[in-house]
Amino acid sequence: MSNVTLRNVRKTYPGGVEAIKGIDFAVDDGQFCVLVGPSGCGKSTLLRMVAGLETITKGEIDIGGRVVNDIEPADRDIAMVFQNYALYPHMSVYNNMAYGLRNRGMPKPEIDTRVREAARILEIGALLERKPRQLSGGQRQRVAMGRAIVRQPKVFLFDEPLSNLDAKLRIAMRVEIRKLQRRLNTTSIYVTHDQLEAMTLADILVVMNGGMVEQIGNPLEVYRKPASTFVASFIGAPPMNLITLDADEIRAQFSGDARANTEAGILGIRPEDLLISTEAAASGGLSLDLVVDAIERVGAETFVYGARARHGEPAISARPGELPPGEVIVRVPGQNAPAVGERIMVTAPRERLHLFSADGRRRIDL
Ligand SMILES: Nc1ncnc2c1ncn2[C@@H]1O[C@H](COP(=O)(O)OP(=O)(O)OP(=O)(O)O)[C@@H](O)[C@H]1O
Ligand SMILES: [Mg+2]
Repeated sequence: MSNVTLRNVRKTYPGGVEAIKGIDFAVDDGQFCVLVGPSGCGKSTLLRMVAGLETITKGEIDIGGRVVNDIEPADRDIAMVFQNYALYPHMSVYNNMAYGLRNRGMPKPEIDTRVREAARILEIGALLERKPRQLSGGQRQRVAMGRAIVRQPKVFLFDEPLSNLDAKLRIAMRVEIRKLQRRLNTTSIYVTHDQLEAMTLADILVVMNGGMVEQIGNPLEVYRKPASTFVASFIGAPPMNLITLDADEIRAQFSGDARANTEAGILGIRPEDLLISTEAAASGGLSLDLVVDAIERVGAETFVYGARARHGEPAISARPGELPPGEVIVRVPGQNAPAVGERIMVTAPRERLHLFSADGRRRIDL
C-alpha cells in the first residue's frame, strides 16, 4: 500500500513566511492527486515536504502507513520529476536513467532491464546513447520521467513537469503521463497552476489558495459545485461569471427560497450556461440585458463579452478575481455571434445558477 496522508501539515520558513497553514488530505493507493493553485500558494513547498526536501514545521506526513517526518528523502521510496528536468548534461540518456540505481548498488543486469523497459514504455529506446543537448524538450522530459520510472517508487511526485514545453507538446505529454500512471498504477502527486491540466489529470483535485486548501474533490464535482468564488473563478476557462447582488436583488432573483434569504451574496453562472435568447428565462431563472462590447472567435466556439445594462443602472462593483464591473462572458458554440454594439438578452435556467456568500468564501446550495 502506498497511500499518502497529510495531517495538519504546516510550514513556516526561516524568516517567518507561513507558506502552508494547516493542510489535511489523503491520496489512496494508485490515485492521481493534483495540487492546483496560483503562483505562491504553496504547492511546491507542500510537494517538497512530501519528498523530504523541506522540513515539516508541524503536523504529519504518512506514506504507506509510515510517518516520514524524520525519514531522509532517499529512504522515502519516492521519485520526483521537476520542471527543469535536471538531467546530467555529460551523461548519455542511458546513464542518466541508470545513475540513481547504480548509486544504490543495484546489480548491472537488473539496471539494464529496468532502463530498457522504461525506455520502451516512453518510446525513447532509439535515443539511449544520446546526450541531453541532442534531444528536444519533449524527449528530455521523457528521460526525466524515465529516471523516475526505473526507481519503481511507491509514489511519483511531479512539480510542473510540462511547463517548459510548447502548448502542443504539453497536451501530448499530458495524455502520456496519464496513460503511464494508469498503466503503472503508482500513487502520484502532481503540481500545476494550469487548471486544464489539473482537470484532465486528477482523480482527486486539491485546490490551494494562500497556503490553505480551498476545496478537495473529484474534478468534475469541483467544477459543478465550486465551494467558493475563488474556486469558481480558478477552475474553468473562461472563468465563471460572478455578479454581486444586494439583499433586494437576491430576494428578487431567488424569491421563495429561504436558503437565499435577505443576505447579500454573489451570483455565479458559467459562460457556457448562458444562452442568447429572445425570451426571458422561466420562473427562477436568470435574464440579463447586455450590450456586446467584444467578440473572440477561437474556432469551435465564440466568446461574447457583454456589459450589463440591467434596468439602466450603473454596473455593480466587482471584487478581486471577478470580471470587470458589469462584464459578462457568454460562450457560444460555433462561429455565429452578435455584432459589437448589439443589445442582447442572455438567460440561464435556475438549476445552472450558483450562489455564494457576500465574502465569496462559502457556497450556498440552492
Ligand atoms: N526557501 C524559502 N524561504 C522563504 N520563503 C519561501 C521559500 N520558498 C518559498 N517561499 C515562500 O513560500 C510561499 C509558497 O511558495 P511555493 O514555492 O511553495 O509556491 P508555489 O505554489 O509552488 O508557486 P509557483 O506556482 O510560483 O511555483 C511563497 O510566498 C514563497 O515566497
Ligand atoms: Mg512551485
